[in-house]
Amino acid sequence: MGAEEKALRAIPVTDKVWWVGVVDRELDDFHGYLTPRGSTYNAYLVVGDTVALIDTVKKPFFGQMMDRIASVIDPKRIDLIVSNHSEMDHTGALPETIAAVEPKRVVASQMGARAIAAHFGGLQIEVVKSGEAIRLGEGLTLRFVETRLLHWPDSMVTYLPEKKLLFSQDIMGMHVAVQKLFADENPEDVLVHEAAKYYANIIMPYSDLVLRALDSFSNFGIEPEIIAPDHGPIWRGDDVSKIIAWYRKWAEQAPTDKVVIAYDTMWGSTAKLAQAVAEGVRDAECTPVVHPLSNAHRSDIATELLESGAFVVGSPTINNNMFPTVADLLTYIKGLKPKNLVGATFGSFGWSGESVKQVAEALTAMKIEVVDTLRVQYVPEEKDLRAAYELGQKVAHAVKIRLSE
Ligand code: FEO
Repeated sequence: MGAEEKALRAIPVTDKVWWVGVVDRELDDFHGYLTPRGSTYNAYLVVGDTVALIDTVKKPFFGQMMDRIASVIDPKRIDLIVSNHSEMDHTGALPETIAAVEPKRVVASQMGARAIAAHFGGLQIEVVKSGEAIRLGEGLTLRFVETRLLHWPDSMVTYLPEKKLLFSQDIMGMHVAVQKLFADENPEDVLVHEAAKYYANIIMPYSDLVLRALDSFSNFGIEPEIIAPDHGPIWRGDDVSKIIAWYRKWAEQAPTDKVVIAYDTMWGSTAKLAQAVAEGVRDAECTPVVHPLSNAHRSDIATELLESGAFVVGSPTINNNMFPTVADLLTYIKGLKPKNLVGATFGSFGWSGESVKQVAEALTAMKIEVVDTLRVQYVPEEKDLRAAYELGQKVAHAVKIRLSE
C-alpha cells in the first residue's frame, strides 16, 4: 500500500460492482434487538457510464464509506444515488453524501421520498415506480421494485439484471460484522442463527408480504444469482437458493415440537413451576426450551419463537401486575405477530394474583390459543408442581395435534 492509499478499500462483488459499506463492531443493540456480533451497513457502487451508489450508511460512518468509494473512483463521478430504504442506518449519511458528490439524481420510492423529506427536508428526491428502470450504459441497468412494508412503507429493492444481482436492502440481511464479505466465507451456523434472529426481530410481522414478494419477483424478471443486502454477508451461488428457502420457511411459520417457556421469578416459586412445566413437556415428547428472563433477552426469545409450536409464560404478581420483565417481553412479542402458536401461563402470587389472568389476556390478544393456566399461592407444594407438570403435558398435546393437522 502506497503512502497516499488509505486502509479502507472497496471490495469487488462482481465485475463493475463494488461493496463500499462499513463494519460496525460496536453495535450491541439495534432499537431493542441485541446484536452481540455487531453489524455492517452495506452500500454498493455500480460503475457504468453512469456511476450509481446504492444506499449509504449510518451517519458516523460517512468518511469510511467515502474512503472505500475513493479507492475505486473519484466520488464526484457518482451520478445517481438510489435509496432503497430510508431508515437512518442507510440514509444517515445521505445528506453529507449528496453534498460531497453532487449527484445528478437521487431516487427512491414515493414513500421513500416522503420519509427522506420528513427526516432531512430540502433534499431533491426523484420518485421511481415499481418496474421502472434506469440505464447506466456499458450494458448495465437498474430496475426498481417496491417491497412495501418489508419492512418500512418506503422499502424497495434494486435489480441489476445483466449481473443477476439483487440489492435487497434489509431483506435477507443480518446483524453480523463480517470481515469476509460473502456468506460462503463465513461459518454457516452463525449465518443461519443470525439470519433467523434478524427475520424474527425485523421481518416477522410482515411474513405474508415476504411470500408475496418472493412470488412476485419473477414477474419483474428477478432471478438473482447474487443477493446483496444492506447488512451482513452477500449471498452467491448455492447460498442464494438457501436463503430464499429459509425465508419461505420462516414466513410460513409452520409449528414445530418446540415449546418456549419464558418466566421470571421473585423468590423462586415461579421458577419451580417452570421446571415442572418443562418436565411435563418433555415427558409428552415435545422439546422444552426454558428461558429465565433474568438472563434471556426479548430478542433471543423472539428468535426461539420463530420455529416453535408453543409460547408458555410464567410470571409472579407484583403490586397487582405481571412482572415488569414479562410485560416487556409480551409487549415486544405482540408487535412481532408470531403465528401458529398455542400458549399457557402460570405463576406464583402472595395475596392478589392478577398476573396469570393478565398474561392469558395478552396471549389471547396475540391470537395465541391459551390451553391452560395455573395460579399458585406462595410456595408450590407437590400437588402444585404436579399441576404445572400437567400444564406442560397439555401444551405438548395441543402442539402435537397441530403438528398432525
Ligand atoms: Fe437496516 Fe430498516 O434498516
